[in-house]
Amino acid sequence: MSADKLSDPKSVDRLTPQEARDEHRALARDIAEHDQRYYQEDAPTVSDADYDALRQRYEALEDRFPELRSEESLTQKVGAKVSEKFKKIRHRVPMLSLANGFTDEDVQEFVERIRRFLQIKDGAPLVFTAEPKIDGLSLSLRYEHGRLVSAATRGDGAEGEDVTANARTVHDIPHVLKGHDVPEICEVRGEVYLSHADFAAINERQEAAGKPPFANPRNAAAGSLRQLDSAITASRPLKFFAYAWGEMSAMPSTTQHGMIAAFNSFGLKTNPWTKLCSSVEEMLAHYHAIEEDRANLGYDIDGVVYKVDDLSLQERLGFVSRSPRWALAHKFPAQKAVTVLEDIEIFVGRTGSLNPVAKLKPVTVGGVVVSNATLHNEDYIRGIGGDGQPIRNGVDIRIGDTVVVLRAGDVIPKVLDVVLDKRPADSKPYVFPTRCPVCDSHAVREVNPRTGREDSVRRCTGGLICSAQARERLKHFVSRNAFDIEGLGGQRIEELYDEKLILQPQDIFTLAERNARGLQRLENREGWGGTSVKNLFNAIEARRSIDLNRFIFALGIPHIGETTAKLLARHFGSFEALREAAKAAVDHEGETYDDLTSIGGIGEVVADAIVEFFKEAHNETMLDALLAQVKPTPIEVALTDTPVAGKTVVFTGSLEQMTREEAKAMAERLGAKVAGSVSKKTDIVVAGPGAGSKLDKAREFGVQVMDEDGWFALVGRK
Ligand code: IVH
Repeated sequence: MSADKLSDPKSVDRLTPQEARDEHRALARDIAEHDQRYYQEDAPTVSDADYDALRQRYEALEDRFPELRSEESLTQKVGAKVSEKFKKIRHRVPMLSLANGFTDEDVQEFVERIRRFLQIKDGAPLVFTAEPKIDGLSLSLRYEHGRLVSAATRGDGAEGEDVTANARTVHDIPHVLKGHDVPEICEVRGEVYLSHADFAAINERQEAAGKPPFANPRNAAAGSLRQLDSAITASRPLKFFAYAWGEMSAMPSTTQHGMIAAFNSFGLKTNPWTKLCSSVEEMLAHYHAIEEDRANLGYDIDGVVYKVDDLSLQERLGFVSRSPRWALAHKFPAQKAVTVLEDIEIFVGRTGSLNPVAKLKPVTVGGVVVSNATLHNEDYIRGIGGDGQPIRNGVDIRIGDTVVVLRAGDVIPKVLDVVLDKRPADSKPYVFPTRCPVCDSHAVREVNPRTGREDSVRRCTGGLICSAQARERLKHFVSRNAFDIEGLGGQRIEELYDEKLILQPQDIFTLAERNARGLQRLENREGWGGTSVKNLFNAIEARRSIDLNRFIFALGIPHIGETTAKLLARHFGSFEALREAAKAAVDHEGETYDDLTSIGGIGEVVADAIVEFFKEAHNETMLDALLAQVKPTPIEVALTDTPVAGKTVVFTGSLEQMTREEAKAMAERLGAKVAGSVSKKTDIVVAGPGAGSKLDKAREFGVQVMDEDGWFALVGRK
């Protein structure tokens, strides 16, 4: 059973669109917070399994309600922002992530999807490798002429940290590769990790030295590798397993297992639990064998990774957003623990949502100390779902209760259940506040006019006067995927907000000028130095021009995540065009509204949110002031110089030389948009045998029609 099914009060299929939207939004926030703690602070508060459960639920919501597939699709992101301490190294081949699966069915589907994509019939051979997923941090080692020249962390996938000096101190990382057949350029990728025994010894030393212990082996490994002083890294017995590669001037093998064997012959460590499997049954059997031996391995793993063995098939399968289609991480189930709920605190989010957080008696769940957990919303605490249906057998959650906490992945843990036998006799039901704990405005649960349902989230009605909302909006504005202003993190924003120096986004860009004129200069305040102020102002200056998609994302329009912001940026090209369209789209029957909702990935929910945002006079005022300071620049579209770039293509009929998915992926790679139906806006219809009404329509509209050969001739490849 999957982690999310264990903990989920309500299956995704039973959610109303409004509930799904709310939950999707709440999850996006939770996940972002966990990412921040994990990547920026090296201090996660939830287990990997919990984190995965959150992400899985998030993806399930998007699968069931595709209109939610907006930018908040955290599925688009990989990993962490690069820390400033180290030089940066740009990965010549991006370091991507893995799609996750949790159940046997997920593995079955993964294999079926691949068979469909490649049109390999059931029964025809298809081989996978299966190996442990090491819970460490990934590292890319670049060897030139057999010598180690650089080592980089994954960072954001495109650019990592240069940790070469530290990597050289790792015993498992050879300075020179062995053998005569090492390619001239050979980028080996793998995982740096710590054994349980070494982790325990390091923590003992930390505590003896009066330093805080590391939460788990992975954090200790990360902390050890990212040391400015290599001598410290050298004193920590880090280990390394090779499992993948980046740039290679020649390929030593045509299979995944052959590559691993080659790395092994070059003198690198590879995982002994790697096995070839030719069926789902064999894959699952290996998964369970590894799971059974997990405790004896001596190092942390969090699942099993399956990879298509034939590299030419890997190439055909390609990637989807951040992960390869040819691999799956089959994660181990979430872990649970029992502890006492000491208090419930309410955190007010950017959109005014009152989010209840459980303050727990600290408890270790799967190696991480947990003291906070989400309680989702008011109904969840009352033991009912958003539709009034009982959850957790209708049991409510009270302060003083002994509760079951679930931690999965690197995410926020959740309170899963109550141990009723242990409920104190004098406990009382929790009364959810009906006023905002920050600004004291009324907090209400709106009724959705479309569905007539009450929102499961209670929101502060304070809007602009609520300082919590204003602060959270500002934090979002400067966050990593938005303006990403170095030196202006959450704490600084709070400080500058409290001092009334930054109340709205535009204030950020007039701060330097006001500071120069001001009496109480920042550089003279406690906690600020001349250099930090100068660096901050430089960082702000550098953002006066910013990618259009980031600008759109930064505005914090509900439902506009990074992906949607990118879609909008690509579609409209300039902010002014978006703004005009949003204003014209007030008329839902008009052409502009249709145009907005015809952008793939943008549904009515998103379109409505855009229209609402631009309708507000105070947003208009803010935008005018902000645009006087900042210039959003159109984003670069991947490929613009191909014969089909910018064109809308429809594939119809049966394709014989490529699968439908391959055709779509190819067209999109070449900068074309792929549509499902033919309209006047269609530029090209690629019709295979058996094409029916779409072909007729194309003829009717005078759209260019071609067969598969014509398509290959046009795009210049076969
Ligand atoms: S393959 C293109 N194999 O898991 C993806 N990754 O969640 C190549 N990881 O970033 C990665 N063990 O840090 C691969 N046996 C394994 C792994 C593994 C751990 C990590 C790796 C990756 C992350 C993705």
